Amino acid sequence: MPAMPGFDERDRTLARLLENNRAWAERINTEHPGFFEKLARQQAPEVLWIGCSDSRVPANEIIGVMPGEVFVHRNVANQVMHVDFNCLAVMQYAVEALRVRHIIVCGHYGCGGVKAALRRHELGLLDNWLFSIGEFRRKHSAIIAAAGKEAETDALCELNVIEQVHNVCNTSILQQAWRRGQDLAVHGWIYGINDGHLHDLAVTVTGPEDMDETFTAAFSVPRPAHRR
Ligand code: CO
Repeated sequence: MPAMPGFDERDRTLARLLENNRAWAERINTEHPGFFEKLARQQAPEVLWIGCSDSRVPANEIIGVMPGEVFVHRNVANQVMHVDFNCLAVMQYAVEALRVRHIIVCGHYGCGGVKAALRRHELGLLDNWLFSIGEFRRKHSAIIAAAGKEAETDALCELNVIEQVHNVCNTSILQQAWRRGQDLAVHGWIYGINDGHLHDLAVTVTGPEDMDETFTAAFSVPRPAHRR
């Protein structure tokens, strides 16, 4: 029986991934003897990363950390929604069980989800998922207009990160953690897929008392702030 068209190619792709995996595990074990045995007993990451699903923004690689160092949640356009039990469950586990010390919301320039919301593309379910970015577009229309046509997507990419940092801070998970006196900071970062560089958007919040001043300042500077 002839093989299905394209089957061999698919097969080769998967075989390559599995081969890569064996080589990677071997290399790690050579460089760090006992690495996996030690990690199998416990994870103690200090950072929760909330990022975009985009294949060009892999959390561990771009911050140069090994398995075990960052707890990761990714979705299209790094959204933090108060009705998304997936994201909230990750956050709750990270804050209350793992007791991470930092939550980083990381967006990226040229984000397809942000672009879609800006251009009002009709993409089916994704329109619902990206609904709030359309709202940010309206809310911050003056900043986006000032960025100019060329840079409006990147301006909205930054504003989206800042709004998601705001959402993280407003969850009962964070509010309760801070009330307990837990040492926990929330940050907004953005990544340039053009040059591989991360930028801090200067919206770090370490407690509810920081929120007003931080977000008022963040929404009153021209955007994008870090584009080349
Ligand atoms: Co994206």
